[in-house]
Amino acid sequence: MAGGGPAADNGVLKRAHLYEYNITGYFIFACVVGAIGGSLFGVDLGVSGGVTSMDDFLKEFFPAVYRRKQAHLHETDYCKYDNQILTLFTSSLYFAALVSTFGASVITRKKGRRISIICGSISFFLGAVINAAAVNILMLIIGRVLLGVGIGFSNQAVPLYLSEMAPAKIRGAVNQLFQLTTCLGILIANLINYGTEKIHPWGWRISLGSAAVPAVLMFIGGVFMPESPNSLVEQGREKEAREVLERVRGTKNIEAEFLDMKEASEEARSVKNPFRNLLKRKNRPQLVIGAIGIPMFQQLTGNNSILFYAPVFFQTMGFGSGSSILSSLITNAGLVVGALMSMAVVDKLGRRFLFIEAGIEMFCYMVMVGVTLGYKFGDGVALTKGYSVMLVIVICLFVTAFGRSWGPLGWLVPSELFPLETRSAGQSVVVCVNMIFTALIAQCFLVALCHLRYGIFLLFAGLILVMTVFIVLLLPETKRVPIEEVYLLFENHWFWKRIVGTRQPPEKEMGEKDATEIREKEANLQA
Ligand code: BGC
Repeated sequence: MAGGGPAADNGVLKRAHLYEYNITGYFIFACVVGAIGGSLFGVDLGVSGGVTSMDDFLKEFFPAVYRRKQAHLHETDYCKYDNQILTLFTSSLYFAALVSTFGASVITRKKGRRISIICGSISFFLGAVINAAAVNILMLIIGRVLLGVGIGFSNQAVPLYLSEMAPAKIRGAVNQLFQLTTCLGILIANLINYGTEKIHPWGWRISLGSAAVPAVLMFIGGVFMPESPNSLVEQGREKEAREVLERVRGTKNIEAEFLDMKEASEEARSVKNPFRNLLKRKNRPQLVIGAIGIPMFQQLTGNNSILFYAPVFFQTMGFGSGSSILSSLITNAGLVVGALMSMAVVDKLGRRFLFIEAGIEMFCYMVMVGVTLGYKFGDGVALTKGYSVMLVIVICLFVTAFGRSWGPLGWLVPSELFPLETRSAGQSVVVCVNMIFTALIAQCFLVALCHLRYGIFLLFAGLILVMTVFIVLLLPETKRVPIEEVYLLFENHWFWKRIVGTRQPPEKEMGEKDATEIREKEANLQA
């Protein structure tokens, strides 16, 4: 089956039309292991959110928070009880992740994606065990830092690994396994929390310890999974790279793809400092869109804040103490549905279509939430049941739209934009920026809600508008474009071509011997 497709046929690309692939068991195994990385991320997001609101947990470690929580059980206002220390405890994981991801970058580049995935799983396992056994706050914090390091490693290596292993034609769907398993992880964690909350006084230990299960699975998988061929070429292990590529693609005709990898690796070897290289003019689009813009905007959509606020609406609808679990079941189901929708169409309709279509919807939903709350809620006035029902529906539509656009594409698109020489460095910046904004939003949301009131949702609406225009103007379509040929899109983009110029022919960038070899092979291929 030949790769390629519309984007590859428009004359911009080099050898995309010559790529061949089959779906092999070897490839499926690699994807499954890679996707477990997403579930680690999800289980942790879900477990920590739930445990920090469990009474037994609060009584043991944060008694003052517990007492004040009891005094604020019935909210009809924007200024909900806000505890910065507890939020900081939750955010400590993101801070550990954003620092460790830079260490992960060096390992991912020099030793390969597999080793980073294995390191991530070990750190995750230790963190889960220490947290489950915690008898004081220090143990809790050490556990969370180790979990954060696990996320720093796995979010750095997994999206990248999936994008490299996938044939160009289905790369979008394969990479989005990461988001799908993240959402499933959150959903499962919520169900576990629902059960363990009833086990007094130590049920929270099961919740925190449950993160060890996907960590063990990922470790076992990591030991047996193949390294990505791109990484093997990058490390100079060309023979192995060729063998893995043949087995993963299920064909001997891998010459075109292999040549692209080899060219990319020649360039990569000449780069001494990949972080400094990321700042070069030729990598400006990747820096602006992939490393900073997309991960930052993903968090500025306000999705996590909407998820956070949803239980209040469910409570108002009369679901009482079950409202939290119900709302998280429904909203997370929305995220899973969104991820499945995205997987089905991302390689046909493209990334831009999803970003733009869902962006317009998300803008409208945020305006609806803001305006409804503005007129119908606050200053001691509770929402009526009718408006709560409407808001719950709007929230479901919002999370489904996020779940098929900024959620999965926020990890997919950056992982496919960077050239090999800065791919792992670039992905570290992606994780770092994503974590900074996740922590920032978590830390500031309640304070902002208290002061801006319903205006915070209108602010998110404005930001969604800005990010949609950003995509329309600056992101070229990457669907079906081989990962090592994506840079060509910028050389032909209406705006970026003025910044990046055109790359030199191979012989100027690599040794004469390699260039001649590539030219000869290319001539054979074309013949
Ligand atoms: C985001 C998280 C979010 C999750 C589920 C991920 O892509 O990075 O911040 O919580 O999706 O919505």
